Amino acid sequence: MRRDAAALRLLTALLVAVACATSCHGAEEKIAEQGDDARPTVVITGANRGLGLELARQFGAKGYRVVGTARKPEAAKELRALGARVEQLDVADSESVRALAARLGELSVDVLVNNAGILVREGGIEEIDVDSIARSFEVNSLGPMRVTQALLPHLRLGKKKLVVQITSRMGSIAQNEGGYYAYRASKAALNMLNRSLAAELGGEGFTCVVLHPGWVRTDMGGPNARLSPEESVSGIIRVMDGLTREDSGRFFDHSGEELPW
Ligand SMILES: NC(=O)c1ccc[n+]([C@@H]2O[C@H](COP(=O)([O-])OP(=O)(O)OC[C@H]3O[C@@H](n4cnc5c(N)ncnc54)[C@H](OP(=O)(O)O)[C@@H]3O)[C@@H](O)[C@H]2O)c1
Repeated sequence: MRRDAAALRLLTALLVAVACATSCHGAEEKIAEQGDDARPTVVITGANRGLGLELARQFGAKGYRVVGTARKPEAAKELRALGARVEQLDVADSESVRALAARLGELSVDVLVNNAGILVREGGIEEIDVDSIARSFEVNSLGPMRVTQALLPHLRLGKKKLVVQITSRMGSIAQNEGGYYAYRASKAALNMLNRSLAAELGGEGFTCVVLHPGWVRTDMGGPNARLSPEESVSGIIRVMDGLTREDSGRFFDHSGEELPW
């Protein structure tokens, strides 16, 4: 009889211990989740190299949860090494954009940086393959539009509601000195699309800007460019941090100077 009572006491103690361990573990998980949730989230397209990779590095250092996209995620080793969540995305492919939005599930996104872009080297009016211009529009103009549209539900859940389109001074009609038909036109179209987004989404508290990063030493900018990616991106982030809702729809460079359309 006494042995039975002792066994019962032992069993009860064990059950209490297991219950406590489970609930304590649950509490720890909750704290970890809350900790994660407290971090703002940024999605950066074309984050496997160049400005996108440096944006991922500096946003991560600022305490952001970084979702960086790459066309070939398995090759995006530097991005993964930063601790970013790496997601496959081809901005010219609507299905790929939809799939990304689905994989993000209920994730709230505070900042979207549409950075992915191409610059196709081309000749003057007599050499240029006019049909190939469409590719620049697909990536540089329609890509950011596709991604912004698909991630709108995620951005609506976010606190900052900031959309940054990495454009170029070369998309300024006022400052066009010739050449680069496809690139200039596709960035000018991006600028216009962003202005429309700013007008439509302003009422919901969105800030949508186009930002010129300066001439930067990346694969696109080449080795003779004026700025390092670090210099350009620290400027871009300073500008982003200083933006107010009144800035929505405007065109800035990395130093905060406003550029003419
Ligand atoms: N560097 C400059 O001097 C300069 C000046 C003004 C504006 N910008 C703008 O800054 C942005 C970044 O340029 P960057 O200098 O970092 O260029 P970059 O070194 O050539 O990198 C371009 C990035 O865009 C990605 N990308 C290209 N096509 C894509 C597509 N269809 N879908 C998804 N991603 C795609 C590339 O991915 P892959 O590795 O798969 O090709 C790469 O990650 C661009 O929008 C560019 O127009 C740059």
